[in-house]
Amino acid sequence: MPYFDAASSAPLHPVARQALLASLDEGWADPSRLYREGRRARLLLDAAREAAAEAVGCRPDELVFTSSGTRAVHTGMAGALAARRRVGGHLVVSAVEHSSVLHAAAGHEAAGGTTTQVAVDRAGRVDPDAYARELGEDTALACLQSANHEVGTAQPVAEIAQQCRAVGVPLLVDAAQSLGWGPVEGDWSLLTASAHKWGGPAGVGLLVVRKGVRFAPQGPADERESGRAAGFENLPAIVAAAAFFAAFSLTAEPSPPGL
Ligand SMILES: Cc1ncc(COP(=O)(O)O)c(C=O)c1O
Repeated sequence: MPYFDAASSAPLHPVARQALLASLDEGWADPSRLYREGRRARLLLDAAREAAAEAVGCRPDELVFTSSGTRAVHTGMAGALAARRRVGGHLVVSAVEHSSVLHAAAGHEAAGGTTTQVAVDRAGRVDPDAYARELGEDTALACLQSANHEVGTAQPVAEIAQQCRAVGVPLLVDAAQSLGWGPVEGDWSLLTASAHKWGGPAGVGLLVVRKGVRFAPQGPADERESGRAAGFENLPAIVAAAAFFAAFSLTAEPSPPGL
């Protein structure tokens, strides 16, 4: 039977599978330890971060690995909203965001914040001017997907990022549905993605916070992943997720995720 739901989850790419098997043997140790096995794990983690950062078009120290795309969205939104609490509690999202964004917005409202959902046209596309009109003096954060998870509509991210910059509002781009096909254009502030959409294993997300963007991690402190993603890294899965990018950065045409 053919499989038609790669937007929900793509099959593991052969390159990712190979990297996963190899790093189960090589990458089991604690990357924060200084003995040989730990240093080997750290090398693998650093290389994975560099490959993922190159695919995103950011600095490696701007990118952390999370335990899912959903976790990356929740952590990114909570950290950005908290850091701008003094500016205000207004959040702008599109009406067609993934449930991870809409649920985080509902939580934000339950905690006393406000959310504006910007409507889309018949093709599921946000109008940049309509979106920009909702950005106010008390807007702490704006969120927009790069592409829709149900109908595939690509959103005008670069234009909206520019409008957000003009009024000093950080834009978080949920790039779960597009990063496997290429980097997100534009001057966005935060970006999230999910490895099982591009043929990596499930349970690996990316959270990118550009240098200079205010960010206050929420929840109990933890030393791993710059204090932004708590818990011991799933190194074999991270290596496998990044192997896809490492392999295809060598070719001009990226291969469709997992296919
Ligand atoms: C647009 C979008 N954002 C976020 C996510 C969440 O990613 P994950 O499945 O890794 O939690 C998904 C996955 O369905 C998605 O399609």
